[in-house]
Amino acid sequence: MANYPEIMGRSVVITGAAAGIGEAAARGFYEQGAHVFLLDIDAGRVQAIASELGERAQAIQVDITHPEAVIKAFEAIDRAGHGLDIFINCAGGYQKLLTVEKMDLEEWDKTIALNLRATFLCCQAAIPRLKKSSAGRIINVTSISGRTVHAASSPAYGAAKAGVTQLTRFLAYELGPFGITANTIAPLTTLTPRVAALRTPEDFARIASQVPMGRLATVDDHVAAMLYLASDGAGFVTGVALDTNGGRVMM
Ligand SMILES: NC(=O)c1ccc[n+]([C@@H]2O[C@H](COP(=O)([O-])OP(=O)(O)OC[C@H]3O[C@@H](n4cnc5c(N)ncnc54)[C@H](O)[C@@H]3O)[C@@H](O)[C@H]2O)c1
Repeated sequence: MANYPEIMGRSVVITGAAAGIGEAAARGFYEQGAHVFLLDIDAGRVQAIASELGERAQAIQVDITHPEAVIKAFEAIDRAGHGLDIFINCAGGYQKLLTVEKMDLEEWDKTIALNLRATFLCCQAAIPRLKKSSAGRIINVTSISGRTVHAASSPAYGAAKAGVTQLTRFLAYELGPFGITANTIAPLTTLTPRVAALRTPEDFARIASQVPMGRLATVDDHVAAMLYLASDGAGFVTGVALDTNGGRVMM
C-alpha cells in the first residue's frame, strides 16, 4: 500500500468499520498513522477491532439510519478532541437478490435507509466538523450497481447508490468553497463475508469473466483508492466517482 505521510495525525471517521471494506479501511488509515473512529452497529466486533489496532483507534456503536444516534456518535467524536478531517461512509449493502417485480416494500425501505438516508445523515453531521479542517474529505462508498446494471443485484440498492453519487456531487459543489472535497468510490463484487453468502462460486466466476482486469475486487483495491482521495495530492479532485471495478463499468 502506498504511504501518505500527510495522513499521519489526521482524524478519520469510518462507518461500517466492523467488517469487509470498512474494516480494511480502518486498518489501512491506522497504518498511515491516523486517529481512526470506527463506527458500526455491531458493538462487539467493532470494539474488538479498535482494541486490536491500538490507542489511536476508538470504537463507537451506532445505527447510522437513526438521526439521534448519528448526532450522539459525532458528539462522542468531538469529545475525543482530534477534530474531523476525513469522513468515509462505508456502511451499506443489501440482503436479498430480488427483481423489481418481486421486491417487497420492507426490503426496499431498509435498503434505501442504510445506503442513502444514512449517507445523508452522516454527511450532514460531518459537514460542520469538516469545515474546521484544513484538508476536509468526504469519501462515500457506492457500487458498480449504482453506475450500471452489471448482474442480477438489488434494484433498491442500485437506486440508492446512484442517489449517493448524485448526493456526493451536491456535497462537492457546496463544500468546494471550504476546501473540502467529496467523492465516491464504486467497487465491483468483493468477497466480503456478506457478499460471499449472497452468491454462488459460479456467479463469482461469471462476474470475473466480464471484467477487463479478469478478476473480482479485493478490499485493498478500495482502500488504495480511499487513501489517494484522502491525500493532499487529490486536493483538486472532487465530485468524481472513482471506479474501483477493474473496468467493468464500461462494458
Ligand atoms: N462487497 C462488495 O462486493 C461490494 C461491492 C460494491 C459495493 N460495496 C459497498 O461497499 C460497502 C461495504 O460493503 P461490505 O461488503 O464490505 O459490507 P459488510 O456487510 O461486510 O460490512 C458492512 C458493515 O456495516 C455495518 N452496518 C450495517 N448496518 C449498519 C447500520 N445501520 N449502522 C452502522 N453500521 C451498520 C455492519 O455491521 C458491517 O460491519 C457498502 O457500502 C457496499 O454497498 C460492496
